[in-house]
Amino acid sequence: MALVTTTRLLEDARRGGYAVGAFNANNLEIVQAIVEAAREEGAAVIIQASQGAIKYAGIEYITAMVRAAAEGLDIPMALHLDHGTDFGQVMRCIRHGFTSVMIDGSALPFEENVALTARVVEVAHAVGVSVEGELGRIGGTEDDVSVSDREATLTDPEEARRFVELTGVDCLAVAIGTAHGFYRGKPQLDFDRLKEIRDAVDVPLVLHGASGVPDEDVRMAISLGIAKINIDTELRHAFVSALRARLEELPREIDPRKLLAPAREAMKEKVREKIRLFGQRGS
Ligand code: 13P
Repeated sequence: MALVTTTRLLEDARRGGYAVGAFNANNLEIVQAIVEAAREEGAAVIIQASQGAIKYAGIEYITAMVRAAAEGLDIPMALHLDHGTDFGQVMRCIRHGFTSVMIDGSALPFEENVALTARVVEVAHAVGVSVEGELGRIGGTEDDVSVSDREATLTDPEEARRFVELTGVDCLAVAIGTAHGFYRGKPQLDFDRLKEIRDAVDVPLVLHGASGVPDEDVRMAISLGIAKINIDTELRHAFVSALRARLEELPREIDPRKLLAPAREAMKEKVREKIRLFGQRGS
């Protein structure tokens, strides 16, 4: 099946009362782990690549791997740019076949964020690509984008309403107390704020920094309008922990396949667990 837009996946998710998992990938084994998990669960999925992932793997490799995976699959899948901060980079992704892009202007003053996001929306929509915007600042570090606790600010519902209206984004990443990376304590999610944002805007909402968020909070967030959930850190952890164990088990092994296969398997199981948590019933 050809890659689809996230707009289509998120419309289905809203109708079905579940969230679609958006999982970060930067190499072959990770793409395979995500796709195989989605196939086994019969679930739609979003593979996302950050600017750092694109720098590491190369945009041609990312798009070729994901396209090849989608071809052999009868579940819908989107390829999404995670936290694009540069207009040129976003355009390159569209040109290479990404079906969805995030333009993250959240570090900019409101008016500049609106202007940058609206510019991306105009071009992306002309060629049928979905756009995710961000308002408010999500703490932590996601590849090369880093936001300290002091800089992190929660999304204002009234600003969110104006932002969606002025930009025409297809979905909106909101800051409601999550952060990228592992949490030091239990994250405190602001559900009242999420409810107010949901009532103020008519587009699906996106939860970033979902690794380590307790399951009951994830379910509550979905019931309050979150339709796309980003997971990276927990997948990396599953992969590297299994890889480390394998290296200790086979210290003299030099065949990368024998070392990487269990890591890929561990990551696949983690993706399956998240897909089930997000409530998508397999077809
Ligand atoms: P985590 O690394 O906390 O799972 O966050 C991922 C994310 O939000 C990617 O944009």
